[in-house]
Amino acid sequence: MKKIILLGPPGAGKGTQAAKIKEEFGLPHISTGDIFRANIKARTPLGILALRYIDKGRLVPDEVTIEIVRDAIRNLDSFMLDGFPRTLAQAEALESISDVDAVVNIHVDSAKLMKRLTGRRVCASCKATYHVDMLDGGDACECGGELIHRDDDKPETVEKRLAVYEAQTRPLIEFYTARGKLINIDGDAPVERVFADIAAALRQLS
Ligand code: AP5
Ligand code: MG
Repeated sequence: MKKIILLGPPGAGKGTQAAKIKEEFGLPHISTGDIFRANIKARTPLGILALRYIDKGRLVPDEVTIEIVRDAIRNLDSFMLDGFPRTLAQAEALESISDVDAVVNIHVDSAKLMKRLTGRRVCASCKATYHVDMLDGGDACECGGELIHRDDDKPETVEKRLAVYEAQTRPLIEFYTARGKLINIDGDAPVERVFADIAAALRQLS
Protein backbone atom coordinates (compact mmCIF):
# COMPACT_ATOMS: atom_id res chain seq x y z
CA MET A 1 0.00 0.00 0.00
CA LYS A 2 1.43 3.34 -1.00
CA LYS A 3 0.45 6.93 -0.48
CA ILE A 4 2.21 9.22 -2.88
CA ILE A 5 2.12 12.77 -4.20
CA LEU A 6 2.97 13.83 -7.76
CA LEU A 7 4.57 17.26 -7.58
CA GLY A 8 5.67 19.41 -10.50
CA PRO A 9 4.83 22.54 -12.46
CA PRO A 10 1.91 22.75 -14.89
CA GLY A 11 2.79 20.59 -17.88
CA ALA A 12 5.46 18.50 -16.12
CA GLY A 13 3.53 15.35 -17.01
CA LYS A 14 1.76 14.58 -13.71
CA GLY A 15 -1.48 13.50 -15.40
CA THR A 16 0.35 11.55 -18.12
CA GLN A 17 2.39 9.62 -15.55
CA ALA A 18 -0.55 9.20 -13.15
CA ALA A 19 -2.42 7.16 -15.75
CA LYS A 20 0.56 4.81 -16.13
CA ILE A 21 1.21 4.55 -12.39
CA LYS A 22 -2.45 3.71 -11.82
CA GLU A 23 -2.26 0.94 -14.38
CA GLU A 24 0.98 -0.54 -12.99
CA PHE A 25 0.52 -0.05 -9.25
CA GLY A 26 -3.26 0.17 -8.93
CA LEU A 27 -3.12 3.39 -6.92
CA PRO A 28 -6.34 5.43 -6.88
CA HIS A 29 -5.67 8.68 -8.79
CA ILE A 30 -6.97 11.84 -7.16
CA SER A 31 -6.49 14.97 -9.27
CA THR A 32 -7.89 18.15 -7.75
CA GLY A 33 -7.83 19.74 -11.22
CA ASP A 34 -9.99 16.88 -12.60
CA ILE A 35 -12.40 17.20 -9.65
CA PHE A 36 -12.76 20.95 -10.31
CA ARG A 37 -13.25 20.42 -14.07
CA ALA A 38 -15.93 17.75 -13.48
CA ASN A 39 -17.76 20.20 -11.20
CA ILE A 40 -17.42 23.03 -13.73
CA LYS A 41 -18.93 20.79 -16.41
CA ALA A 42 -21.81 19.80 -14.12
CA ARG A 43 -22.30 23.46 -13.08
CA THR A 44 -22.28 22.64 -9.37
CA PRO A 45 -21.75 25.43 -6.79
CA LEU A 46 -18.16 24.17 -6.36
CA GLY A 47 -17.64 24.33 -10.12
CA ILE A 48 -19.01 27.88 -10.34
CA LEU A 49 -16.64 28.97 -7.58
CA ALA A 50 -13.62 27.10 -8.95
CA LEU A 51 -14.07 28.49 -12.47
CA ARG A 52 -13.54 32.05 -11.19
CA TYR A 53 -10.00 31.09 -10.15
CA ILE A 54 -9.05 28.48 -12.78
CA ASP A 55 -9.96 30.80 -15.66
CA LYS A 56 -7.46 33.33 -14.34
CA GLY A 57 -4.74 30.75 -13.68
CA ARG A 58 -5.05 31.31 -9.94
CA LEU A 59 -5.38 28.70 -7.21
CA VAL A 60 -8.75 27.80 -5.74
CA PRO A 61 -8.75 28.86 -2.05
CA ASP A 62 -6.99 26.47 0.33
CA GLU A 63 -9.95 25.88 2.64
CA VAL A 64 -12.11 24.68 -0.28
CA THR A 65 -9.40 22.47 -1.78
CA ILE A 66 -8.32 20.92 1.52
CA GLU A 67 -11.88 19.80 2.32
CA ILE A 68 -12.21 18.17 -1.11
CA VAL A 69 -9.05 16.13 -0.59
CA ARG A 70 -9.95 15.28 3.01
CA ASP A 71 -13.20 13.80 1.69
CA ALA A 72 -11.60 12.06 -1.28
CA ILE A 73 -9.00 10.16 0.75
CA ARG A 74 -11.08 9.52 3.87
CA ASN A 75 -11.51 5.79 3.33
CA LEU A 76 -8.42 5.05 1.22
CA ASP A 77 -5.39 3.14 2.44
CA SER A 78 -3.44 3.97 -0.71
CA PHE A 79 -3.64 6.91 -3.09
CA MET A 80 -1.81 9.08 -5.60
CA LEU A 81 -2.44 12.82 -5.28
CA ASP A 82 -1.98 14.82 -8.51
CA GLY A 83 -2.02 18.61 -8.17
CA PHE A 84 -2.36 18.60 -4.38
CA PRO A 85 -0.80 19.97 -2.24
CA ARG A 86 0.32 23.09 -4.07
CA THR A 87 0.66 25.57 -1.19
CA LEU A 88 2.43 25.25 2.15
CA ALA A 89 -0.94 25.55 3.92
CA GLN A 90 -2.23 22.56 1.91
CA ALA A 91 0.90 20.53 2.68
CA GLU A 92 0.59 21.28 6.39
CA ALA A 93 -3.10 20.36 6.36
CA LEU A 94 -2.32 17.08 4.60
CA GLU A 95 0.16 16.18 7.34
CA SER A 96 -2.70 16.30 9.83
CA ILE A 97 -4.97 14.18 7.59
CA SER A 98 -2.64 11.41 6.41
CA ASP A 99 0.96 10.23 6.17
CA VAL A 100 2.53 10.07 2.73
CA ASP A 101 5.30 7.66 1.78
CA ALA A 102 6.91 9.63 -1.03
CA VAL A 103 6.67 12.78 -3.10
CA VAL A 104 7.59 12.31 -6.76
CA ASN A 105 8.88 15.65 -8.01
CA ILE A 106 8.82 15.75 -11.81
CA HIS A 107 11.22 18.40 -13.06
CA VAL A 108 11.02 20.03 -16.51
CA ASP A 109 12.66 23.32 -17.58
CA SER A 110 10.11 26.11 -17.54
CA ALA A 111 10.98 27.09 -21.13
CA LYS A 112 9.53 23.76 -22.36
CA LEU A 113 6.30 23.92 -20.37
CA MET A 114 4.58 26.59 -22.46
CA LYS A 115 4.89 24.47 -25.62
CA ARG A 116 3.65 21.34 -23.85
CA LEU A 117 0.58 23.08 -22.46
CA THR A 118 -0.51 25.14 -25.42
CA GLY A 119 -0.27 21.98 -27.57
CA ARG A 120 -2.04 19.68 -25.11
CA ARG A 121 -5.29 17.95 -26.04
CA VAL A 122 -7.35 15.94 -23.54
CA CYS A 123 -10.00 13.33 -24.25
CA ALA A 124 -13.39 14.59 -23.05
CA SER A 125 -14.43 11.01 -22.40
CA CYS A 126 -11.51 8.97 -20.91
CA LYS A 127 -9.22 11.92 -19.99
CA ALA A 128 -6.22 10.52 -21.92
CA THR A 129 -3.65 13.26 -22.57
CA TYR A 130 -2.01 13.99 -25.93
CA HIS A 131 0.14 16.64 -27.54
CA VAL A 132 -0.69 17.92 -31.02
CA ASP A 133 2.79 16.83 -32.14
CA MET A 134 1.81 13.19 -31.37
CA LEU A 135 -1.54 13.35 -33.13
CA ASP A 136 -0.39 13.57 -36.70
CA GLY A 137 -3.46 15.58 -37.68
CA GLY A 138 -5.91 13.18 -36.01
CA ASP A 139 -8.63 14.71 -33.86
CA ALA A 140 -10.07 11.78 -31.88
CA CYS A 141 -8.89 9.77 -28.89
CA GLU A 142 -8.08 6.05 -29.18
CA CYS A 143 -11.35 5.46 -27.27
CA GLY A 144 -13.28 7.46 -29.89
CA GLY A 145 -13.83 10.43 -27.54
CA GLU A 146 -13.51 14.05 -28.61
CA LEU A 147 -10.17 15.78 -27.95
CA ILE A 148 -10.48 19.17 -26.33
CA HIS A 149 -8.18 22.11 -25.65
CA ARG A 150 -8.38 23.12 -21.98
CA ASP A 151 -9.52 26.74 -21.53
CA ASP A 152 -6.66 27.38 -19.09
CA ASP A 153 -4.08 26.29 -21.72
CA LYS A 154 -4.22 29.67 -23.48
CA PRO A 155 -0.71 31.24 -23.49
CA GLU A 156 -1.66 34.14 -21.18
CA THR A 157 -3.26 31.81 -18.61
CA VAL A 158 -0.34 29.36 -18.81
CA GLU A 159 2.04 32.23 -18.02
CA LYS A 160 0.03 33.07 -14.94
CA ARG A 161 -0.10 29.41 -13.84
CA LEU A 162 3.67 29.09 -14.19
CA ALA A 163 4.17 32.24 -12.07
CA VAL A 164 1.78 30.89 -9.44
CA TYR A 165 3.74 27.62 -9.40
CA GLU A 166 7.01 29.48 -8.79
CA ALA A 167 5.58 31.59 -5.98
CA GLN A 168 3.32 29.13 -4.19
CA THR A 169 4.19 25.54 -5.12
CA ARG A 170 7.95 25.43 -5.65
CA PRO A 171 8.54 25.94 -1.88
CA LEU A 172 7.06 22.46 -1.35
CA ILE A 173 10.25 20.95 -2.79
CA GLU A 174 12.12 22.19 0.27
CA PHE A 175 9.25 21.23 2.59
CA TYR A 176 9.34 17.58 1.50
CA THR A 177 13.13 17.43 1.16
CA ALA A 178 13.37 18.42 4.83
CA ARG A 179 11.06 15.50 5.65
CA GLY A 180 13.11 13.01 3.62
CA LYS A 181 10.18 12.31 1.29
CA LEU A 182 11.32 13.83 -2.02
CA ILE A 183 12.16 11.70 -5.07
CA ASN A 184 13.48 13.81 -7.96
CA ILE A 185 12.61 12.63 -11.47
CA ASP A 186 13.84 14.14 -14.73
CA GLY A 187 10.62 14.82 -16.65
CA ASP A 188 12.41 16.08 -19.75
CA ALA A 189 12.67 12.66 -21.37
CA PRO A 190 10.30 10.43 -23.36
CA VAL A 191 7.14 9.45 -21.46
CA GLU A 192 8.20 5.78 -21.15
CA ARG A 193 11.66 6.76 -19.81
CA VAL A 194 10.11 9.05 -17.19
CA PHE A 195 7.71 6.27 -16.19
CA ALA A 196 10.51 3.71 -15.89
CA ASP A 197 12.36 6.02 -13.49
CA ILE A 198 9.24 6.63 -11.39
CA ALA A 199 8.34 2.92 -11.32
CA ALA A 200 11.86 1.96 -10.20
CA ALA A 201 11.71 4.50 -7.38
CA LEU A 202 8.26 3.37 -6.26
CA ARG A 203 9.30 -0.29 -6.20
CA GLN A 204 11.98 0.62 -3.68
CA LEU A 205 9.41 1.93 -1.21
CA SER A 206 8.59 -0.66 1.40
P1 AP5 B 1 -4.36 20.93 -12.72
O1 AP5 B 1 -5.35 20.24 -13.57
O2 AP5 B 1 -3.74 20.20 -11.58
O3 AP5 B 1 -3.23 21.49 -13.68
P2 AP5 B 1 -1.67 21.71 -13.48
O4 AP5 B 1 -1.05 21.40 -12.18
O5 AP5 B 1 -1.49 23.10 -13.95
O6 AP5 B 1 -1.02 20.64 -14.32
P3 AP5 B 1 -1.44 20.19 -15.73
O7 AP5 B 1 -2.60 19.26 -15.66
O8 AP5 B 1 -1.58 21.40 -16.60
O9 AP5 B 1 -0.10 19.45 -16.21
P4 AP5 B 1 0.38 17.94 -15.96
O10 AP5 B 1 1.61 18.01 -15.12
O11 AP5 B 1 -0.73 17.06 -15.52
O12 AP5 B 1 0.85 17.59 -17.43
P5 AP5 B 1 0.22 16.58 -18.52
O13 AP5 B 1 0.49 15.17 -18.12
O14 AP5 B 1 -1.19 16.94 -18.84
O15 AP5 B 1 -4.97 22.27 -12.14
C1 AP5 B 1 -5.71 23.14 -12.94
C2 AP5 B 1 -6.19 24.31 -12.09
O16 AP5 B 1 -7.07 23.84 -11.03
C3 AP5 B 1 -5.09 25.09 -11.35
O17 AP5 B 1 -4.51 26.08 -12.17
C4 AP5 B 1 -5.88 25.68 -10.17
O18 AP5 B 1 -6.61 26.80 -10.55
C5 AP5 B 1 -6.85 24.55 -9.82
N1 AP5 B 1 -6.29 23.63 -8.82
C6 AP5 B 1 -5.95 22.32 -8.99
N2 AP5 B 1 -5.43 21.80 -7.85
C7 AP5 B 1 -5.43 22.81 -6.94
C8 AP5 B 1 -4.99 22.92 -5.60
N3 AP5 B 1 -4.41 21.88 -4.95
N4 AP5 B 1 -5.14 24.10 -4.95
C9 AP5 B 1 -5.72 25.16 -5.57
N5 AP5 B 1 -6.13 25.14 -6.85
C10 AP5 B 1 -5.99 23.98 -7.54
O19 AP5 B 1 1.17 16.91 -19.77
C11 AP5 B 1 1.17 18.20 -20.37
C12 AP5 B 1 1.50 18.07 -21.87
O20 AP5 B 1 2.82 17.59 -22.02
C13 AP5 B 1 0.60 17.09 -22.64
O21 AP5 B 1 0.37 17.58 -23.93
C14 AP5 B 1 1.43 15.80 -22.68
O22 AP5 B 1 1.12 15.01 -23.80
C15 AP5 B 1 2.85 16.37 -22.76
N6 AP5 B 1 3.84 15.50 -22.13
C16 AP5 B 1 3.72 14.82 -20.95
N7 AP5 B 1 4.84 14.13 -20.67
C17 AP5 B 1 5.71 14.41 -21.68
C18 AP5 B 1 7.06 14.01 -21.95
N8 AP5 B 1 7.75 13.19 -21.13
N9 AP5 B 1 7.65 14.48 -23.07
C19 AP5 B 1 6.97 15.32 -23.91
N10 AP5 B 1 5.70 15.72 -23.72
C20 AP5 B 1 5.08 15.28 -22.60
MG1 MG C 1 -2.78 17.34 -15.03
